Amino acid sequence: MALYSDKVMDHFRNPRNVGIIEDADGVGEAGNPVCGDIMKIYLKIADDTVADVKFETFGCGSAIASSSMATELIKGKPVSEAMSLTNKAVAEALDGLPAYKMHCSVLAEEAIKAAVRDYYDRHGISYDPALFREHIHCAHEADEKSSS
Ligand code: FES
Repeated sequence: MALYSDKVMDHFRNPRNVGIIEDADGVGEAGNPVCGDIMKIYLKIADDTVADVKFETFGCGSAIASSSMATELIKGKPVSEAMSLTNKAVAEALDGLPAYKMHCSVLAEEAIKAAVRDYYDRHGISYDPALFREHIHCAHEADEKSSS
């Protein structure tokens, strides 16, 4: 079986929503200290809905595919749905990622949450900070990376 699904390869080779939004309502960034990859998400919000979303990812193919899929999953959706997008949902939408590449999808979840938080902060919208608890990158993940 191929290491990467056709969907991963498709979103890696033809990533959707690449770029920046100059007048974004929220911008979020996430990075993985182990591999050094960085993802940035730009949101344009209208009527509490993700009217547009773009990303810039300096990272591996799985991170690019995860960014692309994640932006597709939240585009046109209510902000609350964007907030609840999990890395697992992103990986499932890509028909799976190898276990040692799951952390790449975590960047997408974290960057989107950071962008929503930035949107809330900029617009004076109150929220429960517990919703934005940072994902803990476990030591196990670091071990997986160093052995890959
Ligand atoms: Fe770090 Fe993919 S995001 S290897």
